[in-house]
Amino acid sequence: MTNIAQAVKILKSGGLVAFPTETVYGLGGDAQNEQAIRAIFQAKKRPYQHPLIVHLAQAEQLSQWARDIPAAAWRLAEAFWPGPLTLVLKKQAHILDVLTAGQETIGLRIPNHPMALELLQAFNGGIAAPSANQFTHISPTTAAAVAEELSGRVDLILDGGDCAVGLESTIVDLSTDQPKILRPGMITPAMLAGVLGQPITHATTEVRVPGQHLVHYAPATATTLLSYAALADFLVHLTPEDLPVACLVYSEKAAQLPIANEDITLWWLPAQAALYAHDLYDTLRLLDHQQAKHILIEQVPDDAEWDAIRDRLFKASTKR
Ligand code: TXA
Ligand code: MG
Repeated sequence: MTNIAQAVKILKSGGLVAFPTETVYGLGGDAQNEQAIRAIFQAKKRPYQHPLIVHLAQAEQLSQWARDIPAAAWRLAEAFWPGPLTLVLKKQAHILDVLTAGQETIGLRIPNHPMALELLQAFNGGIAAPSANQFTHISPTTAAAVAEELSGRVDLILDGGDCAVGLESTIVDLSTDQPKILRPGMITPAMLAGVLGQPITHATTEVRVPGQHLVHYAPATATTLLSYAALADFLVHLTPEDLPVACLVYSEKAAQLPIANEDITLWWLPAQAALYAHDLYDTLRLLDHQQAKHILIEQVPDDAEWDAIRDRLFKASTKR
């Protein structure tokens, strides 16, 4: 039996299969099987009030899952699917409450990864899949990272290499008159606005107060996000008790940071947003394994193309 055939068999019998997408690996279960959905929440230790995204093979399947689908949804689907975009729409009446956390809406997307598409076509139904990590941990972008997160809690891990995008999909809410971005991703507001023919902004519901917002995407090591100047200052004033520290930097000027001690290590990410995003989670995972007391991250540029990265760094650096 091929891996895909085995995966379909597992999904049909209510089991869980981790699979690659272009964003991050997903922990998949049959979106119409209540036991499978509950098993996903349990495997991730995810509270039931966080709804799951359903993955589809074809845009025509949208109407089986959503109702009152606005023209904007079809336009975005046409422009960006398969791809790193999730649409939140009004759900069909038959959708399981446990899947949508009792909400009247459902998140849907077609992922752009050959193995995910092959699996979805062979399964011939919706696959519910959150990122394949423990709740609040860093999302996995390799099969090895999935194994680290979910070993023994998933029936099969499909290995499709590393994820091309590396950050979770952009989520757009089209369930009300005013389209809103619920989660920034590598599909930017400008790209969406170009297709929608109107500006689109982030939802303002998320409280952006450091220390009070939801911890997410976080290493276990204490992680701090600092401007270049604050990072340089921190390194100068380090005490022996602070060591060792691992610094994640990207800028050219970071080569001049005052590294006075072998217990201060510098880790570099590329200065282009797409390449930085691709490497970010795997690098954070690696840094988390260094037994450092602190991970210090150099703040990235303010430009829109870095929005999703800033969002994830902000959440990763929250104190627990
Ligand atoms: O790129 C991705 O979106 C990945 C891959 C596997 O597709 N999936 C992913 O799923 O990031 P997850 O569960 O880790 O994050 C989904 C987010 C959650 O924050 C959830 O609250 C939100 O989507 N969400 C899902 N359904 C929603 C809905 N109906 N309304 C509002 N937010 C929703
Ligand atoms: Mg997640």
